[in-house]
Amino acid sequence: MYIVLKNIRHGLKPIPFQSLRTVKLQKENMNEIVNLNPPDSVRGMLELSEECFKKNVSIPVLHVKDVKLSNIIKLVKPELLKVENFKPIKSDESGTQIYLNPNRVDSENLENELNKFGLGKKDIILTNFTLNYENFSAEQVFRAVLPKNKEGMASFTKIGHILHVNLREHLLPFKKLIGKVLFDKIPGCKTVVNKTNMIDNTYRNFQMEILEGEDDMMVTLKENKCTFQFDFSAVYWNSRLSSEHECIVKKLNSNDVLFDVCAGVGPFSVPLAKKSCIVHANDLNPESYKWMNHNFKLNKIKTDCFKTYNKDAKMFILEEIKEYLPKYLTTHKVFITMNLPAMAVTFLNNFVGLLKNSDFVKGSFKPVTLFVYCFAKGENYNEIARNLVIENLGFDKIKDLHRVRTVSSLKEMMRVTIELDEEVLVGNVATGVKRSNEDDILEDNIKKCNVGDTKLPVPII
Ligand SMILES: C[S@@+](CC[C@H](N)C(=O)[O-])C[C@H]1O[C@@H](n2cnc3c(N)ncnc32)[C@H](O)[C@@H]1O
Repeated sequence: MYIVLKNIRHGLKPIPFQSLRTVKLQKENMNEIVNLNPPDSVRGMLELSEECFKKNVSIPVLHVKDVKLSNIIKLVKPELLKVENFKPIKSDESGTQIYLNPNRVDSENLENELNKFGLGKKDIILTNFTLNYENFSAEQVFRAVLPKNKEGMASFTKIGHILHVNLREHLLPFKKLIGKVLFDKIPGCKTVVNKTNMIDNTYRNFQMEILEGEDDMMVTLKENKCTFQFDFSAVYWNSRLSSEHECIVKKLNSNDVLFDVCAGVGPFSVPLAKKSCIVHANDLNPESYKWMNHNFKLNKIKTDCFKTYNKDAKMFILEEIKEYLPKYLTTHKVFITMNLPAMAVTFLNNFVGLLKNSDFVKGSFKPVTLFVYCFAKGENYNEIARNLVIENLGFDKIKDLHRVRTVSSLKEMMRVTIELDEEVLVGNVATGVKRSNEDDILEDNIKKCNVGDTKLPVPII
């Protein structure tokens, strides 16, 4: 039934018999390839009209009967007509019709191969085919509609059922159409939102407008074999960081300790607690704190494996890390994550001399591994990240520099791995980094973090 309906919709109607030679000749005459993209007339369309996407093309259809289908399919696979929502192989009582890509079908090779099965030009019939809105991908629609030669669609990210775009100025007149097309075309999408401001608030969430779909910001998604739920309008989540989260999760073994200084809703902390690490997770945003707790519960993490905090990073380091670190240092491998790229380096100086009053036998503990994230703005991103970290820590304890992702042109998100050893944690504090006048340092470092930025963001990205 479905196929019959579809065929009617596509207006399939065989053209009087023409051989493959005719197909070839036609193409030679037209001297152009068959354009399977939407009609030119949709360019500049502001409100989606599906009707305007209708387009008739001639498609070669191979008719086969009484042959082993699997052999033929293997043969024509590269030549099949590939358009959205259309199955190019259809069978009924009269045999099987195989829809071929008109721009590939005239390969000599195919002809020769078909002959081996007793098939040939006579079995390929040019057929009228109506392409509809549903046969075009979102990308094809945008390429056809949006202004030519201008920077195209901003890429989108999918967060559960929410599709999130960040439209540039010149695309704003098309925002309703963009929302509708993404809603129609992207599987699982129930809401399309557009970011309406820069992420410049403390909690790293952003304001957004709904372009299409339900006003439902409650997201459920999976990452690193854990389920996360949160209110996307109130917390930070970036699906582009999923491989980075996975990479860190893989670096720790069960029984290792993690202090997650800016934990968000728990993408490092929850999977690691699930892996039987001991986790101390902190976030300043009360909403992130709430959802982080919810996510530990949701993933059935035993309550003795984790502790959560709702503090400023500096206080979390000076109070909680300071209290717990001596308990773990000689018995466990300890890791710290600080993913707040625009200002995490400014927290580094709090580690200098953090344990200076603790009694440690020299050489009694392995260094703590700290992953600090930062933005490097400029061409030489490794060098920029290295300098940021050294200037803020006052020591060169860098073990690794890793580019996490490109944020924009000449702006890279970097992960810098540092080893906090006895010299940093217990040793003499007089290293050139002042700890007394921290407000000055903070101010200064925020400026350094934003070198090259025309707009100096408010303290936290
Ligand atoms: C870039 S997000 C990272 C969240 C999470 N770790 C991840 O990888 O997705 C930074 C987080 O830091 C939190 N944050 C911002 N300022 C903070 C501060 N001063 N102290 C602690 N957390 C802070 C924000 O609420 C946000 O959840």
